[in-house]
Amino acid sequence: MKNLVIYYSRSGENYVNGAIRSLAKGNTEIIAEMIQKNIGADLFRVETVKPYAAGYMDCIREAQKELDNDARPQLKEYLSDISAYDNVIIAGPCWWGTYPMAIFSAIENLDFTGKKVLPLMTHEGSGLGHCEADLKKMIQGAEFAKGLAVHGADAAKAEGSVVRWLRQNINE
Ligand SMILES: Cc1cc2nc3c(=O)[nH]c(=O)nc-3n(C[C@H](O)[C@H](O)[C@H](O)COP(=O)(O)O)c2cc1C
Repeated sequence: MKNLVIYYSRSGENYVNGAIRSLAKGNTEIIAEMIQKNIGADLFRVETVKPYAAGYMDCIREAQKELDNDARPQLKEYLSDISAYDNVIIAGPCWWGTYPMAIFSAIENLDFTGKKVLPLMTHEGSGLGHCEADLKKMIQGAEFAKGLAVHGADAAKAEGSVVRWLRQNINE
């Protein structure tokens, strides 16, 4: 069975356990690489043409505006065909209760029929927010696993729970 991870992750300033800190590598990227290492997966990194601000407060404002407009920011690269994959893990940070709109840009026109979709979100307190409901509105014909929420600040320590969740949910 073939696995694909579609993920967005942003390095730079972020909110970590109540303080603003600069991260060299984004939390979700740590998890994406963990998934690849443990089950074997192709990684598709979602990258916007116009990068989000590195400053936390600026990024917060940009993200809120995009959410309010239900925006679909343009990406540097798009997937066109995911038919080779059985399991698709969709991973991203919680931004105002859901994924960054760039994730929706990446998945909106893909055919998920017959796939197993595994939602994963890194966060600072909101858990999965409403990302599962948002995915289900956009993705038709797929089977959904119950999503996994990972506390972003603990991403590097989450390997045990991530691997357990994958093993329980991927179609082998
Ligand atoms: C624009 C923005 C909005 C955020 N909104 C939330 C939120 O609504 N709830 C929450 O728990 N964390 C929120 N966070 C924190 C991130 O979800 C968390 O730090 C995440 O692990 C970052 O992942 P990344 O490093 O892969 O981008 C927000 C962070 C940013 C930059």
